[in-house]
Amino acid sequence: MTDLILLQREGAVQTVRMNRPDKKNALTQAMYGALADALTAGEADDAVAVHVLAGTGDDFTAGNDLNDFLSVRSLTGSEVGRFLDVLAGLTKPVVAAVKGAAIGVGSTMLLHCDLVIASTGTRFQFPFVNLGLVPEAASSLLLPRLAGYQRAAELLLLGEPFDAAKAREAGLVNCVVPAGEEEAQAMVLAQRLALRPRQALRNTKALLKAESEPVADRIAREARLFEAALTSPELKEAVAAFLERRPADFSRL
Ligand code: COA
Repeated sequence: MTDLILLQREGAVQTVRMNRPDKKNALTQAMYGALADALTAGEADDAVAVHVLAGTGDDFTAGNDLNDFLSVRSLTGSEVGRFLDVLAGLTKPVVAAVKGAAIGVGSTMLLHCDLVIASTGTRFQFPFVNLGLVPEAASSLLLPRLAGYQRAAELLLLGEPFDAAKAREAGLVNCVVPAGEEEAQAMVLAQRLALRPRQALRNTKALLKAESEPVADRIAREARLFEAALTSPELKEAVAAFLERRPADFSRL
């Protein structure tokens, strides 16, 4: 593990921090590789229930290292490709704490997170067109779905920076907090998620992320998962806690 990525554990929450503050956490291939490895390890570790993504210093990330770009010829098989595949495939919840620059992949990776907390001064941008590139990380699919076509077109075709209020309006961000409070708020939500029954969280995330399907198929798919959960220890504990008028404790299940 390189020190370009920092790992921190608080209970069942693993924070993965991009750590290149002098370059606004711009991401090199080595950093994408380290991020992919850290997330993969957190995903495999039963002691980890929730991932948090954050940046050191004043920024989330100013996106792909622009110098590094010149040496990448193919995304498939590259470390950035591996990082995006890992991020998009995570089954545990991901909470992002965003501040300062959240540009390029700093904005597109948020489309794969489950909860996004941003502070007021955050500068978001999808600058791909301005660089002669096209959107990445399925943002051309996910952003219109999230924000509606016109808003996505404005952000992707004009490629101009936008603030946290506009990101909130577009649905890219769950809540906007004062500067310096984004990590604490992300941790509050991550710890709250970590108290939830894990399989129920995973199943719900998988349903949320599933591609569109006829409503009847979705009802049937939900029913299969729901039925399997009816005999789960988590449900037993939740019902017992209700009847005994105490908080449920899923930590040992
Ligand atoms: N790649 C490589 N280096 C970057 C970078 C990037 N994406 N973003 C910032 N940096 C570096 C700068 O080169 C500078 O390095 P230096 O101090 O050695 O000169 C340092 O980080 C600070 O950035 P600077 O541009 O001086 O800060 P600023 O506050 O004036 O502007 C930004 C901040 C984020 C608006 C500006 O850096 C920027 O537009 N970066 C590029 C964003 C981008 O297009 N990303 C690619 C997305 S695909």
